[in-house]
Amino acid sequence: MPSVLPDGEPVPEDGSLPPSALDGRAERPLGFYLHVPYCATRCGYCDFNTYTATELRGSGGVLASRDNYAATLADEVRLARKVLGDDPRPVRTVFVGGGTPTLLAAEDLVRMLGAVRDEFGLADDAEITTEANPESVDPAYLAALREGGFNRISFGMQSARRHVLKVLDRTHTPGRPEACVAEARAAGFDHVNLDLIYGTPGESDDDWRASLDAAIGAGPDHVSAYALIVEEGTGLARRIRRGEVPMTDDDVHADRYLIADSVLAEAGFHWYEVSNWAASEAGRCLHNELYWRGADWWGAGPGAHSHVGGVRWWNVKHPGAYAAALAEGRSPGAGREVLTEEDRRVERVLLELRLRDGIPLSLLRPAGLSAAERAAGEGLLETGPYAEGRAVLTLRGRLLADAVVRDLVD
Ligand SMILES: C[S@@+](CC[C@H](N)C(=O)[O-])C[C@H]1O[C@@H](n2cnc3c(N)ncnc32)[C@H](O)[C@@H]1O
Ligand code: SF4
Repeated sequence: MPSVLPDGEPVPEDGSLPPSALDGRAERPLGFYLHVPYCATRCGYCDFNTYTATELRGSGGVLASRDNYAATLADEVRLARKVLGDDPRPVRTVFVGGGTPTLLAAEDLVRMLGAVRDEFGLADDAEITTEANPESVDPAYLAALREGGFNRISFGMQSARRHVLKVLDRTHTPGRPEACVAEARAAGFDHVNLDLIYGTPGESDDDWRASLDAAIGAGPDHVSAYALIVEEGTGLARRIRRGEVPMTDDDVHADRYLIADSVLAEAGFHWYEVSNWAASEAGRCLHNELYWRGADWWGAGPGAHSHVGGVRWWNVKHPGAYAAALAEGRSPGAGREVLTEEDRRVERVLLELRLRDGIPLSLLRPAGLSAAERAAGEGLLETGPYAEGRAVLTLRGRLLADAVVRDLVD
């Protein structure tokens, strides 16, 4: 089952925020994340907050059902409107993620988006994304999303190799994600992303190259490539512990990252975050940039996290408990924390150092500055920007990003 939520102070029943959270908000963009907590089957590597029909049976009753979900989520968007009041900002990004959003009818996703539009208004150039599983869409579905206002779509491709997809428990066939890109383009989507995973047990360098080639050949304008994380408590972790599949070591992950960066760069994709490459400036995912740059976003749905003006909160995880709270007119918030100046500084280092622009050295404290000097000397930070007062990861620095971030944050 999904991992546990952090502790924190309770969220008031009406979801209200400390007034300080709304100070200066006109200067910060606002985004919405809408979570869809359902999947047809659970992939053995995944610990996201998502539930199969079997997992939901007997818990949560009709409230937790997929049929009511769009209406329930719209209730939370209306609560957001009450909490944020007369917010002067039209919404800049909406991102529907999961779970498998495309297990719901396209009309449900459009209805969820409509709730945001009705309550807040959307910016003229708003980026409206949904994640989609390749096996759960067809041309008519994609056309309905496009007509309903979605302009970006992100497919979970993961690999082009059948044996790799099998270890990951993915149910789509090789070739289907590439066909999805063509169908999305035909439906009029401006922006299409493919998610890939590298370092799956049994994957070779050639398998990984084949996946990258297939992804690029399909013509997306964005590719995300993630090292497979073996999360505690997942089916994959148990299989590795039992010795049924081997664990991938860090050197293999590093080699695969280098392959990804060189193949993608060759094809005209530039990295703008350690795990994300875009074919143009317009191809970058603005919604993720809101997260990485500490903007305001409201995460609606079970287990979703939000951040407004230095207050971070998270919702109850179970779809039944989530729907019950909203049905009783209560906030589904399970806990929250008010970030201190130091928390916000640490967060900026953790997230922004992974971006192509890096961070100003002025964000660092003395120990972090010494670590930055060492990292620059070891070729982990670009020397040009360093001389001008910025810490920007080199390619080798990106390979060791987690360690560099840990050192610089002190
Ligand atoms: C949680 S999924 C939701 C979207 C959709 N259901 C799917 O699977 O494509 C979003 C992305 O997270 C990535 N992901 C999930 N679990 C991961 C893990 N343990 N290690 C690396 N990437 C992971 C996958 O690339 C996936 O496409
Ligand atoms: S389809 Fe996506 S969200 Fe669902 S279990 Fe698989 S990886 Fe997780």
